[in-house]
Amino acid sequence: MAETTTSQEPTRRDFLFIATGAMGAVGVAAAAWPFIAQLAPDRETVAQGAPIEVDLAPIAEGQIVRLFWRGALIFVRHRTQAEIAAAVDTPLSALKDPQPDSERVQAGREQWLILYGSCTHLGCIPLDFQGAYGGWFCPCHGSVFDTSGRIRQGPAPINLPVPPYRFVEDTRIVIGEA
Ligand code: FES
Repeated sequence: MAETTTSQEPTRRDFLFIATGAMGAVGVAAAAWPFIAQLAPDRETVAQGAPIEVDLAPIAEGQIVRLFWRGALIFVRHRTQAEIAAAVDTPLSALKDPQPDSERVQAGREQWLILYGSCTHLGCIPLDFQGAYGGWFCPCHGSVFDTSGRIRQGPAPINLPVPPYRFVEDTRIVIGEA
């Protein structure tokens, strides 16, 4: 299942649902269908926990796509220049779990942020573009993550982890392979 949100229209969210086997869609524009087909892994792939290939090309700047890999929610965020700058300019001394943005993205592809979408406190799902840093906000106990997915406020002890992934093309990644 995958879901798309955008920072440009925070009050209007398009939800793209991708379910392997029984695929359904709610409120999806016709143009989104090729995107769904590309992202949806088949049932066997999911069952095996195999790597999944994700086409990044349809993900607009300022948009976050949610998908599942090995049963875990994954955020794929196409960051804006302002979001990248905010992450890069944050001094490590301001971080609870100090890690430079450069260690959380790939060089030359800083616009792409790939994260596990599970709060590192007790596992709730953080809300996109929420919180004081425009990253994510976890509504369960108030953890706030920045545009690098780093914990900035609240009880979560560590940053949102980055799953293993690699670029196979400029706009195509494989999640599950480093
Ligand atoms: Fe996210 Fe507690 S589960 S703050």
